[in-house]
Amino acid sequence: MLPKLIKDILCETPQSQEVTVSGWVRTKRDMKNLVFVEVNDGSCFASLQCTFDRGSGLDAQTEPALASLGTGASVTVKGRLISSPASGQAVEVSAYSLRILGDAPAENSLEISAYPLQKKRHSMEFLREIAHLRPRTNTFGAVARLRSRIAFAIHRYFQERGFHYLHTPVITSGDAEGAGAMFQVTTLDPAITAKEFASSGSIDYTKDFFAKKTFLTVSGQLEAETYATAVSRVYTFGPTFRAENSNTTRHLAEFWMVEPETAFAELEDNMALAEDFLKYIFNATLDECAGELAFFDAHIEKGIIENLRQVADAKFAHITYTDAIGELEKAAASNKSLFEFLPRWGCDLQSEHEKYLTEKVAGGPVIVTGYPKEIKAFYMKLTDDNRTVRAMDVLVPRLGEIIGGSQREDNLEKLISRMRELGMKSEDYSWYLDLRRYGSVPHSGFGLGFERLIQYITGMANIRDVIPFPRAVGQAGF
Ligand code: 4AD
Ligand code: MG
Repeated sequence: MLPKLIKDILCETPQSQEVTVSGWVRTKRDMKNLVFVEVNDGSCFASLQCTFDRGSGLDAQTEPALASLGTGASVTVKGRLISSPASGQAVEVSAYSLRILGDAPAENSLEISAYPLQKKRHSMEFLREIAHLRPRTNTFGAVARLRSRIAFAIHRYFQERGFHYLHTPVITSGDAEGAGAMFQVTTLDPAITAKEFASSGSIDYTKDFFAKKTFLTVSGQLEAETYATAVSRVYTFGPTFRAENSNTTRHLAEFWMVEPETAFAELEDNMALAEDFLKYIFNATLDECAGELAFFDAHIEKGIIENLRQVADAKFAHITYTDAIGELEKAAASNKSLFEFLPRWGCDLQSEHEKYLTEKVAGGPVIVTGYPKEIKAFYMKLTDDNRTVRAMDVLVPRLGEIIGGSQREDNLEKLISRMRELGMKSEDYSWYLDLRRYGSVPHSGFGLGFERLIQYITGMANIRDVIPFPRAVGQAGF
């Protein structure tokens, strides 16, 4: 039998029943005969107070254990659950037995430095240096629980709507986004390939593990399209990799992406799906993570709960890229120092532009459609104007882009000609082009950055603090 979790013990009616509590010590207060030990097991915010009375019935090993006990040690406590005389907690454990499973030293020694987490608040930067202990803090414990529940809600949303969870490969040979920001996967020895390159000017990848050049995937979309045009609705939810040199608070080199792909769906259907999906997740979080949200509202970003409620209720604004540029140009003309980058038709929206559009123009999330084809990926459906594509980005206040998606080009000739324009070899994508050769259908999909979603919901400022083990430029230590 697994031991009880503190979150469940806290819900029991105290009737002096025997309980066993396992967790890590948050604090110990020694007051003459009484010793108060707060034990936390990360199942919820609250710690369970265990009170030891030196004068009454402690077992023989408990007294020395109490004497050496420090913050961070792992313990198992046995006692009786009683109603607590102290304010701020309904129950506590009147304890008679304490066993230390693993010490956590309070002082530096030669072998091991003192337990780094103290009761005081630590900065996010400090905690990032001790990634293996971050989850012992309230903030990271809350992020971990919330991530897990939201992941489950995402699966529930799609599973209940006829979408099949598709496992797309991590190792691929194509560039799904055509952006070139990929990590290469190879078993060739770099010392040997460097020599080969120096003498012949090229590298023979037929000698590599997969007999061709391969990479970590930037997106599961192309594979998802293959299955959507066979089983109608699929979604992926897995790690994706980008070797962009973007050292920002919203970029990771390894992040999790949710990518639904739907056959017989056009851009408008895709937009409606994205909005319904996000609202479902916001409502699920409000319902199922109330304790965590209250914490983020109090300590990380004031007003986050009210904000989520409003967003879950209101219709998302829609604007075309062309109109968005118009709004930004107007704003830039009336205030010369508003933007670092001047908005101009044909240029990608910078995060300052996305911020302005959500916070000043729309006053909430906004879906931008109809981007110039030059700044979007090769697979997006060309509009009749021949200049824009049926793309959609969902932008949210504070963060900017949270979702990127599109209707896909389902016309074989148009897709091949676009790939040619971009210098892509259509032979490399012939399996993908087959979808347009045999029973092609209008289809659409989008990608949600899971960490950006968690950032938006929690108000956490840096994306590295909403993923357990962040991988970003210069960071892969743990
Ligand atoms: O806009 P992106 O690049 O779109 C795609 O990858 C498409 N294949 C999706 C699709 O249509 N199936 O990425 C989608 C989302 C972005 O909106 C953003 O939320 C997130 O993925 N994202 C990142 N998140 C963290 N770190 C990065 N470096 C990210 N790059 C994109
Ligand atoms: Mg994008």
